[in-house]
Amino acid sequence: MGFIADALSRVKPSATIAVTNKAAELKRAGRDVIGLGAGEPDFDTPENIKEAAIRAIRDGKTKYTAVDGIPELKEAIVAKFARENNLAYKPAQVSVSGGGKQVLYNALMATLNPGDEVIVPAPYWVSYPEMVLLCGATPVIVEATAATGFKVTAEALEAAITPKTKWVIFNSPSNPTGAAYTRDEVKALTDVLVRHPHVWVMSDDMYEHLTYDGFVFTTPAEVEPALFDRTLTVNGVSKAYAMTGWRIGYGAGPEALIKAMAKVQSQSTSNPCSISQWAAVEALNGTQDFIPTNAAVFKERRDLVVSMLNQARGITCPTPEGAFYVFPSCAGTIGRTAPSGKVIGDDQGFVTELLESEGVAVVQGSAFGLGPHFRISYATSNAALEEACKRIQRFCGNLK
Ligand SMILES: Cc1ncc(COP(=O)(O)O)c(C=O)c1O
Repeated sequence: MGFIADALSRVKPSATIAVTNKAAELKRAGRDVIGLGAGEPDFDTPENIKEAAIRAIRDGKTKYTAVDGIPELKEAIVAKFARENNLAYKPAQVSVSGGGKQVLYNALMATLNPGDEVIVPAPYWVSYPEMVLLCGATPVIVEATAATGFKVTAEALEAAITPKTKWVIFNSPSNPTGAAYTRDEVKALTDVLVRHPHVWVMSDDMYEHLTYDGFVFTTPAEVEPALFDRTLTVNGVSKAYAMTGWRIGYGAGPEALIKAMAKVQSQSTSNPCSISQWAAVEALNGTQDFIPTNAAVFKERRDLVVSMLNQARGITCPTPEGAFYVFPSCAGTIGRTAPSGKVIGDDQGFVTELLESEGVAVVQGSAFGLGPHFRISYATSNAALEEACKRIQRFCGNLK
């Protein structure tokens, strides 16, 4: 339809939302469906955070606020970066938005011109390349396979940099693979970037608090102080504090960039919800006890899922360091025949047949830029995960 903007014709709808919708449709039709597509913790928001929000409502903190965040929240964010990441930001270097997603989008909107390139390591979170396209720029995909633990190498990064490169988007722990870069692995990449002063780093640290087996999280501006002045460090309360619906994310970086991001926000959405901002102050300043307790639950689920998937014929599942996703290969099922009589041709075929025959909803790896894989979100009960993995084992075992 000619009325819709050309930029939209290049943008794909979210594959993860498509899977969730398909699963919901089958459920409505009476099918027994287990959805492992959604990327949000199944835990409830902690009580102290809910109470802070209720207090904010009672105290009348229900008006417009400063466009990119109340001073109290900016102070809490500054303290968080100092405490957890050894990063010394000032409040004027912090921007608060309606989720990490809006922080990323504001930053891209504020900086990209047509022809600019943004390096996006694959497998990637579905929104990165689409946001770059919406801003009229070009995503440059750098593939990382299971052979390197789904992590981009210094050589691959170096080879992708051109004079037009504006940003590299870095995401560790990763959605969709769960892969997290060690300090040495981060350093190998920052060493490359130090040599290319025109390239900025957008570090999406959303899953910082979800790492396992003693993994030590680091972020590029911390590992390489020489990059501090050209890094936007992005984080939020959605995943660590089970606050996906509250919509609060934040970013910290050079003041000129932060000001430009606030300008975008001032003419689009204005401030994030005042009540959610007060809840986020409590999340960051209050007790952090909730975090290791949840991480222990996720680790147990990760181990259950990895072990059961590796017992499914034709599936290989590496053990990720973090987040709440696994990204197994279904290469061993390609060319086999499903109960429907259809031959599995690729990962899209695998997930479609799995949903049709066993009612298990997962997302094809190609949606994240790497097949033949699929993504499972294990942010659901142990009982549902065990049942889903049993069904996957049965499905794979029955392929002809
Ligand atoms: C890698 C990554 N970055 C950012 C986000 C955005 O999180 P939110 O907008 O809820 O803060 C998500 C959510 O799924 C994510 O997986």
